[in-house]
Amino acid sequence: MTRSPSKLIPDDFRTLPGLDDLEAVTVVAREPGDGDEAVGYTVFAEGDVPAELGLDRDALTRAGFDPKVGQALVIPSASGPDLVAVGAGVADELDPAALRDLAAAFARATARRARIALVVGGSHGDPTGTVRAVVEGIVLSRYRYRVLKTSPTHTPLAELSLRVAAADAADIAAGAADALVSARAAVIARDLANTPPGWLTATDIGDIAVQLGARFGFGVELFDKAALIELGCGGLLGVNQGSVEEPRMVKLTYTPEAAASAHLALVGKGIMYDSGGISLKPSDPMHLLMKMDMGGAAAVLGAFTGLRDAGVGTRVTGWLMCTDNMPSGTSYKLGDVLVARDGTTVEVKNTDAEGRLVMMDAIALANEENVDAIIDIATLTGAALMALGQSTAPVLANDQRMADLALAASETTDEPLWQLPLERKYRSQLDSDVADISNLGGKYAGATTAALFLDHFVGDTPWAHLDIAGTMQTDKDDSWRSAGATGFGARTLLEIARTFAL
Ligand code: BES
Ligand code: MN
Ligand code: ZN
Repeated sequence: MTRSPSKLIPDDFRTLPGLDDLEAVTVVAREPGDGDEAVGYTVFAEGDVPAELGLDRDALTRAGFDPKVGQALVIPSASGPDLVAVGAGVADELDPAALRDLAAAFARATARRARIALVVGGSHGDPTGTVRAVVEGIVLSRYRYRVLKTSPTHTPLAELSLRVAAADAADIAAGAADALVSARAAVIARDLANTPPGWLTATDIGDIAVQLGARFGFGVELFDKAALIELGCGGLLGVNQGSVEEPRMVKLTYTPEAAASAHLALVGKGIMYDSGGISLKPSDPMHLLMKMDMGGAAAVLGAFTGLRDAGVGTRVTGWLMCTDNMPSGTSYKLGDVLVARDGTTVEVKNTDAEGRLVMMDAIALANEENVDAIIDIATLTGAALMALGQSTAPVLANDQRMADLALAASETTDEPLWQLPLERKYRSQLDSDVADISNLGGKYAGATTAALFLDHFVGDTPWAHLDIAGTMQTDKDDSWRSAGATGFGARTLLEIARTFAL
């Protein structure tokens, strides 16, 4: 790895601390008992309150407990474990998203406890799915990026015991295994996006991908600057021009054991740090978040770590387009013309619209492999954040089947997407007087014009585009989304790969 002297990173620095924490958790199917430091019981809006809590509904209400999803009341005990009343709302409305939320509320209320137990009542049509949602909610909410604190106060989860009405031990084992695969994808994406930019360069993410590929069953090929010149990836090279760090294109390949019926491409924006380049960003709090401008690449890499273990039957190829975007004497300039891998000439009207430039080369490469479909994911535009905020990400597509696939997967994972129209009328905003296309649209509909730029390279291949600029991060804990990088998209991409069919 290339390291400047200011980056004296300790040898024992844990690159993926959240993954280490996750892998230390055991999930067991058993009754609450010895060793549990906290035991939670679901309390529905109606019906009996579990007798184990030792309080009736009136007493809980007097203590300020409201049995809705998201509420949890800890009842401390002098001798035994803490008892926790966990709001479960109306029994009929308990879908996977609500189960994830109630489990997160329980896990946050018991954040100081390493060994916790939860008893989930009610009747559940899909016992494995119920367990899966509960375990996801617990482990994702307990995520913390604390590796850079000298004295961390965070208590990692060690053991989770579960009893879920209608689920036997086999259901619990199966649901927990599914949950840990999908949570792993998100946690890896969070770790990568939370890492400071000086501690995670394009070279570093390539090296990490190689290690993850060996562990989780996918191939990794690294393309350095010389290889990118050979390939003619003028977008990634142009953006990299101002940086002392080398770029990396990281190609990931997953081949299922049984013959695959389809081939899906996943493309991720990997701007390790986006200063804006010569079109320098102002030094405001938003700029501070630009270490997460590789959230798309992180989501793709996270999703790849789940493909084998989720038994995905589709062939999947990924491209992570990694570099930082820096101002310097060697930077690419406004007015420069870059030549994309497919030969398209691109006039640079703003060096801060760099994401689309690195993505264009990867989309061209995916098309050369005749993939059946392309999904790209990128922290692409401030306009996405302005339009839909921090909870929901826009999806744009050239094929309604692709939008529907992404929307359905996002329902399953509770990573909300909302479709915006790919309004082709706006395409003329990208016209250039000197080149085939420019990288800057007009004042309005910035998420759409960015997507229209990508669409030029996609051509007729079925495609959906996820703009996660708004959802990559949360300022504070929000149910199972822990403060900091959310890993948004990693679980959804895994679900898209799992359900892919056209
Ligand atoms: N990485 C940013 C987009 C972004 C903004 C991500 C806020 C996360 C939070 C992207 O590279 C960018 O700078 N986009 C510009 C494009 C513009 C110059 C056309 C933007 O949105 O302002
Ligand atoms: Mn930018
Ligand atoms: Zn950017």
